[in-house]
Amino acid sequence: MVAVWRTSYAGILPPEYLAGMSIRRQAALWRGTIVDGGSGHATFVAVASGTDSVGGPWQPPQIAGFASGGRRRGGACEEGEIETLYVLDDYREQGIGRRLMRALSAHLNAVGCRSVRLWVLRDNPSRWFYQHLGGRLVEEQAIRVGGEPTVQQAMRWDPIGLLMAATAPKVGS
Ligand SMILES: CC(C)(COP(=O)(O)OP(=O)(O)OC[C@H]1O[C@@H](n2cnc3c(N)ncnc32)[C@H](O)[C@@H]1OP(=O)(O)O)[C@@H](O)C(=O)NCCC(=O)NCCS
Repeated sequence: MVAVWRTSYAGILPPEYLAGMSIRRQAALWRGTIVDGGSGHATFVAVASGTDSVGGPWQPPQIAGFASGGRRRGGACEEGEIETLYVLDDYREQGIGRRLMRALSAHLNAVGCRSVRLWVLRDNPSRWFYQHLGGRLVEEQAIRVGGEPTVQQAMRWDPIGLLMAATAPKVGS
């Protein structure tokens, strides 16, 4: 989490904020999130097995990416929220982000969510990924991160089936 934030948000969030992130604090937060599991919350982890590096030397299994979400806090109870989605640098553009979105949207649909939204920083180029998957910009908010002003945008898929269709396996994959 800390490593992927530092690479993904370099040049977007204040360097002091990224440098000050604590692995120990994040680990405690994630432990709570994973164990709690309330409000239809789930975390999906993409793992690259040692056998994925065809022809290369055997590598121990590694986390390639993760996504989490649940029913939206303080919002319409039938709306789901994708809270995190990160694919590690070496594993991007291989379809892992789409698969994680698929797993999470199928889960949110199964726990009764009829639509889904997420927040992304306006300066984050990943917002084009969400737009590519059919997310519609529905809200913009001025926020502060690490004391610095920035802007976040809400992307929404309503009904949730739009996201499930956009992340369905491509024919032949
Ligand atoms: C955004 C992110 C999750 C995408 O994951 P990924 O595994 O590289 O994406 P995929 O390979 O599944 O891409 C699926 C499709 O989206 C496209 N795509 C991927 N990243 C994109 C981007 N930044 N902008 C536009 N399209 C993008 C791919 O080309 C692919 O297109 P296709 O439909 O022609 O196949 C990844 O780049 C990431 O972790 N970024 C940094 C972390 C971050 O900012 N997360 C969001 C926090 S809100």
